[in-house]
Amino acid sequence: MRFSIVLSLALAAASVSAAPRGQQGQQGKQGQQGQGNNNAGANNAGANNAGAAAAATASNSTAAAATASNSTATAASNTGSTSTATSAGALSSADITTNATENNPDAQSSLTLDPRVIATGFLNNGQDVQEAGQVASLTSNNNFINFCLTQGDLPITNGLQTTTGSCNPAPIGTIPSVQNMPSAKFQNPANGGVVPANAPFVITMNINNLDTGNFVNANENYFAAPQQLNAQGQIIGHTHVVIEALSDLAQTTPTNPQQFAFFKGVNTAAVNGAVTADVTSGVPAGAYRLCSINSSSNHQPVIVPIAQHGSLDDCVYFTASGDGATAVSVVD
Ligand SMILES: *[C@@H]1O[C@H](CO)[C@@H](O)[C@H](O)[C@H]1NC(C)=O
Ligand SMILES: *[C@@H]1O[C@H](CO)[C@@H](O)[C@H](O)[C@H]1NC(C)=O
Ligand SMILES: *[C@@H]1O[C@H](CO)[C@@H](O)[C@H](O)[C@H]1NC(C)=O
Ligand SMILES: *[C@@H]1O[C@H](CO)[C@@H](O)[C@H](O)[C@H]1NC(C)=O
Repeated sequence: MRFSIVLSLALAAASVSAAPRGQQGQQGKQGQQGQGNNNAGANNAGANNAGAAAAATASNSTAAAATASNSTATAASNTGSTSTATSAGALSSADITTNATENNPDAQSSLTLDPRVIATGFLNNGQDVQEAGQVASLTSNNNFINFCLTQGDLPITNGLQTTTGSCNPAPIGTIPSVQNMPSAKFQNPANGGVVPANAPFVITMNINNLDTGNFVNANENYFAAPQQLNAQGQIIGHTHVVIEALSDLAQTTPTNPQQFAFFKGVNTAAVNGAVTADVTSGVPAGAYRLCSINSSSNHQPVIVPIAQHGSLDDCVYFTASGDGATAVSVVD
């Protein structure tokens, strides 16, 4: 399935700041959060339908399914989803708000690891087949469920954007087929293109295989749930665009990921194949790198089934100039 995504992003000069790290990210995320609530309803409607069907099979009994559903009644979540965590097509899991208990018949509310989900391959450290320089994998007989206990004093990520480091216990989640690996390409600005300085411009992006417009609360649910797929097998998520200022297009020193000229979470799903986001200012004259950051709903970078694949994100290099017409050569 192919979507054409048009992002009209006028880059606000106000967004160009030297705010301390973390704070900028938060600003971007918060902006995304505010916008996104508008779409959440539409997306969840579909997700609920898919999830409801899957709920029965996800749990080992109808009684368990009912338990999971009923916890939704007391839910504080804004998703309104009633699906379970294992529901294909569900935007989010059943809104479980009570603590898990040992031997709960609902696998999603049990503290006991269900033997059906143990990855027995994790017992193998991989050194049975040697390759020069290859190191042994960590191994586990319980899916690393208590891994974070081994990480010293690091706090559990706990849904927060913890700038000082943390350990995240959520599983990676559902992984698409190779046919559903996302890919995309910026159309405008063209690589090597020129935009007028301090003036609005439109970013156009073509994207494949990402069910866009789905994002959770970035301040409370960051990395807090597994990646999920929609009924078509595509990753449910959203994208961001980030613009970083360069010294010039030939810059070879690595950029500082704590600094960027503009960051925007793209919260809207494609409508007729297009997503637009209008901002009204521009970026000052200079050289820039524009990249996408494609993410699952809980903001983790999209994860695909094979190691050797094309880039899941795109970057282009462009210049903002006074008259918008200066030709530039691209070195990247
Ligand atoms: C599912 O429930 C049945 C009946 O209660 C039980 O016999 C079976 O062991 C359960 N399976 C799992 C994997 O818990
Ligand atoms: C769960 O919800 C269903 C539907 O609202 C209701 O019929 C059932 O009694 C509830 N079960 C419990 C345990 O609350
Ligand atoms: C749930 O578990 C947390 C952490 O163990 C605990 O602080 C909290 O009191 C528990 N809540 C209930 C309702 O038992
Ligand atoms: C990521 O999302 C952006 C924006 O939708 C898109 O331009 C880019 O191509 C996407 N990358 C992939 C690999 O899907």
